[in-house]
Amino acid sequence: VPRGPPQRPLLKLPPHPREVAAVGSMSTQRNHYLKPVPLRLPPGIPEFPSHQRRHTLPASEFRCLTPEDAAGVFEIEREAFISVSGNCPLNVAEVQHFLTLCPELSLGWFVEGRLVAFIIGSLWDKERLTQESLTLHRPGGRTAHLHVLAVHRTFRQQGKGSVLLWRYLHHLGGWPAVRRAVLMCEAKLVPFYQRFGFQPVGPCDVSVGSLVFTEMQCSLRGLAFLRRNSDC
Ligand SMILES: CC(C)(COP(=O)(O)OP(=O)(O)OC[C@H]1O[C@@H](n2cnc3c(N)ncnc32)[C@H](O)[C@@H]1OP(=O)(O)O)[C@@H](O)C(=O)NCCC(=O)NCCS
Repeated sequence: VPRGPPQRPLLKLPPHPREVAAVGSMSTQRNHYLKPVPLRLPPGIPEFPSHQRRHTLPASEFRCLTPEDAAGVFEIEREAFISVSGNCPLNVAEVQHFLTLCPELSLGWFVEGRLVAFIIGSLWDKERLTQESLTLHRPGGRTAHLHVLAVHRTFRQQGKGSVLLWRYLHHLGGWPAVRRAVLMCEAKLVPFYQRFGFQPVGPCDVSVGSLVFTEMQCSLRGLAFLRRNSDC
């Protein structure tokens, strides 16, 4: 039977006088035991964390969103829209609804695992946006409706919204059935979307409280050459 190391008492007891007397003669031996010896772990037990491969999150990642991302989406929406106007394009249930039905029409930008910008879209099958288009996904539709683009406050004005929108349009370019992208935005953002090829169609039929919107559309035909290189 292999003998293990001597059991230590659970309570620290005062040393026995014989033990005290023996300390002098054992000192050399004790020094030997105090010498550092490399610890060998049994097979199957991982080494110290400093020796393990680091599992770091990617510095920057683009991917389609999942319903599990809804909380992160809504956190950005809350700051970007609700704190400003009391409304937001999609509530949490609607975010989950679209990320369940058509996650492939969403795109998120994650920095070290944290969502910093996103677009949520669905398909629409009519010429113009209506109240219904705010909550519906029409799988046979040839129009991608961008419900919301938002960038986390601390990451704005750094080009992230522009990069994400370019990547999203590029992604849509990989879908031969999708002919155009549409969105509604406040008048102040019309010039921003025009940079990406969106053109104003006219005032949008949909209003939210006192907010009115311009409807914008962008043809994806010009992006046909990107179809072979679609992302997510
Ligand atoms: C609009 C938004 C997505 C732009 O993303 P961003 O990463 O900050 O934008 P970029 O750095 O790529 O580009 C900056 C451009 O955005 C436009 N822009 C951003 N915020 C704007 C605002 N409040 N009013 C007018 N234009 C604005 C401008 O054209 C700006 O360019 P400029 O600085 O030369 O004027 C971002 O500001 C945001 O999330 N805002 C709150 C949510 C929102 O309004 N979303 C749009 C819903 S339709």
